[in-house]
Amino acid sequence: MAKTKPINRMRCSLPAISINEQTARLLLSAFLMQADPTAEELADLKTAVSEAVTNAIVHGYPDSGGQIFITATLYEDRLFRVQIRDTGCGIEDIPLAMTPLYTTSPEEERAGLGFAVMEAFCDRIRVSSRTGKGTTVTLEKRLTSKQEPGKTR
Ligand SMILES: Nc1ncnc2c1ncn2[C@@H]1O[C@H](COP(=O)(O)OP(=O)(O)OP(=O)(O)O)[C@@H](O)[C@H]1O
Ligand SMILES: [Mg+2]
Repeated sequence: MAKTKPINRMRCSLPAISINEQTARLLLSAFLMQADPTAEELADLKTAVSEAVTNAIVHGYPDSGGQIFITATLYEDRLFRVQIRDTGCGIEDIPLAMTPLYTTSPEEERAGLGFAVMEAFCDRIRVSSRTGKGTTVTLEKRLTSKQEPGKTR
């Protein structure tokens, strides 16, 4: 997706502890307010980011803690891009990890649907990862313009 000029950016890092799933959702909402997203767009992005942050916490750092780095950028053409990065264990086989219902934590009753949710709620998802180095998930969603009819904000 071609990107125009960035108009605002937020960078933050949070300890990889489960309370910060909520923190990340709230930070994202606060940042997105300037773009006046629809209720649906906001809910979709919060859900998708929450899945990526949860993955960093539970899979990226399974033993010891670490940091989660979030970079959110809003572009002039209303493209919204958010990166969720960890420096944890990494993913060996990305296509396999992204296969719906695939999970390495069935004993924790995980469904293996996090990536499927991110794909469903965003326009584009990119995953890059190196074993032992960490994982970066990039989510993109184009927000509708205020002039588009039939949108409830
Ligand atoms: N940040 C990450 N670091 C290391 N492994 C990851 C990371 N994110 C995902 N994975 C791997 O990809 C698999 C699939 O992730 P996905 O979010 O789709 O499912 P899940 O987390 O196992 O289950 P659910 O999200 O439904 O609770 C995980 O089981 C894990 O093995
Ligand atoms: Mg998950």
